[in-house]
Amino acid sequence: MNSGLNNIHNIIKTASAEALAETANEPEPETPRKKEWPIDCVVGPGLEGAIACQSKVGYVNGTKGWLVYRGYNIFDLCAHSTYEEVCYLLLNGCLPNRTQLADFKQKLFEYSFMNNVLRRLMGFDIEKMSVMGALRLGINLMRTEFSDFDLIEGLPSLSDAIAADEDSIPMDAIPFGEKHATFEFKMKKGRKRKTHKIERQVDKISSYDTAIQLIAGVSTIIAAASRLHQNRFPLEPHPDLSFAGNLIYMITGRRPSPAEERIIDISLICHADHGMNASTFATMVVASTLADIYFSVGAGVSALSGPLHGGANLDVVKQLRQIGRVENVGKWVDEKLSQKNKISGFGHRVYRSYDPRARILGPLVGHLADESSRIASLYEVAKELERTVAQKVGAEKKIFPNVDFYSGLLYSCIGFDEELFTPMFAASRIAGWTARAIEYLENNRIFRPRALYIGELRNTYIPVENRD
Ligand code: COA
Repeated sequence: MNSGLNNIHNIIKTASAEALAETANEPEPETPRKKEWPIDCVVGPGLEGAIACQSKVGYVNGTKGWLVYRGYNIFDLCAHSTYEEVCYLLLNGCLPNRTQLADFKQKLFEYSFMNNVLRRLMGFDIEKMSVMGALRLGINLMRTEFSDFDLIEGLPSLSDAIAADEDSIPMDAIPFGEKHATFEFKMKKGRKRKTHKIERQVDKISSYDTAIQLIAGVSTIIAAASRLHQNRFPLEPHPDLSFAGNLIYMITGRRPSPAEERIIDISLICHADHGMNASTFATMVVASTLADIYFSVGAGVSALSGPLHGGANLDVVKQLRQIGRVENVGKWVDEKLSQKNKISGFGHRVYRSYDPRARILGPLVGHLADESSRIASLYEVAKELERTVAQKVGAEKKIFPNVDFYSGLLYSCIGFDEELFTPMFAASRIAGWTARAIEYLENNRIFRPRALYIGELRNTYIPVENRD
C-alpha cells in the first residue's frame, strides 16, 4: 500500500477508536429480532418515530453513533471495503467472494456505457437544467431505453404519427379538450393494448440487474450532465479505474491520484444508506405501488433535491466562506446562536453523538487540504467552527457535526463544482434506495398512512352566484 493510502487507512482506524471510546458508556442496543405486527410506537408529525417496515439492509443508532450496513459497521467498511463491494453487500445481504466481486464490477463497468441514453439527454437543454434535473430526466430516459414494458406501451407513440396537420384529423375524431392535437396515429397491424400482470411487474422490479444498472447509470448521467455544463462532451469510463475513480475521471477528465480515488470511494460508502430518510422512503413509497424501479428511484432523486435533505453541504461551504477567517468564528457563532439560527452542518434528527460519517470525512478533508491552500484555510475555519460550537452548545444540546459538515469541502478538494454536491449524494444513495425497495417488495404492502382531519365537516353549500 502506498503511504498516502496507508495514511487514509490509519485515519479511519483512529476515527473508529475515538468513536468507540466516546460512546463506550452508552447502552448497547438489543439484538434485533423480528416483531409481529402491529407494532406499538410513538408517532410525531411527518411520521417521525413511525415504524413502517422491517429491514435487514442498514441500521443507525443515534446514541452509540453507529451506522451499520447488513451487520458491518461503517468504520470497518470504510477501512477495508470499496463502494462496489458495499453495493454488492447492500443488494445481496453478504460480502462477495473474489469471483462474485469481479463479476459485479464487470457488470457495473458495462452498465456505465449508456450512449443511447446520453445521446437523447444531449437533445435537451441540459445547460439550463440543474444536474439533479438532468439526473431526473436521465433516469426516465434509462427507463425508456432499458425497460421493455410500460403500462401504456401498447399505445401508439409519436414515431407512429402519419400526419402532423390538424386539418387531416376528422373533426369527430378529435377528442374533447385536444382541439390543438396535431398528430394522427395509425395502429400497427396486430398491435393491441397490452395488459400487464402484476406478477410480471414484481418480477421486473425486483430485478437485481436493474439495480446494478441504475447504480452505474446514475453516475454516468451525473458525470455527463456536469461535462455538458462545462461545454465538454461526456467521457466513457476507463477500464483501469475503480467505480469511484471513474466518477472523478468522467466528471473532471483527469486521472485521479490514488488518494483522491480512495477518498471518493470512502465518501460513496459513507452515503450509501441511512435508514428511512426522506429519499429512501419516497423511493419505497413509489415502489410499493408496483410502479417500476426507474420511477421509484426518480422519486428518490426528487426528494433528495430539496434543501432540507440533500443540500446542507452546500450551505456549509457558503457559511465557511462567509466566516472567512478563523478569528471571525467566535463572533459569528455568538450572533447565530443569539438569533436562534441553526448552524449548517451541525445537529441531526437521529444522531445524538458524533455522526460517524463526519468523524471519517473530517480528517480525510484534512488529508486532502494539505495539497490545496484554498481548501486548507476553509478547513481551518471548519475546525475552529466545530471546536466553538462544541464548546458553546455541543455538549449541552448534543449537537455535533453531521455528514454534510465535511462532505462539501471534500468534494471541493477533488475539484467538483458546488452544483455536484447533491448529485454526489445521489450517486451513492442509489445503492440504498434500490436495496431497500427490492427488500420491501418481497413483502410488499402499499404505504397508506392517515392524516388527522382537522377541517370543517358540515359546511352549507353556497352556489357561486351567491358567494361574495
Ligand atoms: N445549530 C444550532 N443549534 C441547533 C442546531 C444547529 N445546527 N441543531 C439543533 N440545534 C438546537 C436547536 O435550536 C434546539 O435548541 P433548543 O432546545 O434550545 O430549542 C436543540 O438543538 C434541538 O434541536 P432540534 O431542532 O430539536 O433538532 P432536530 O433533531 O429537530 O433537528 C436538524 C435536526 C438536522 C434539522 C437540525 O439540527 C438542523 O437544522 N441542522 C442544520 C441543518 C443541517 O445540517 N442539516 C443536515 C442534516 S444531515
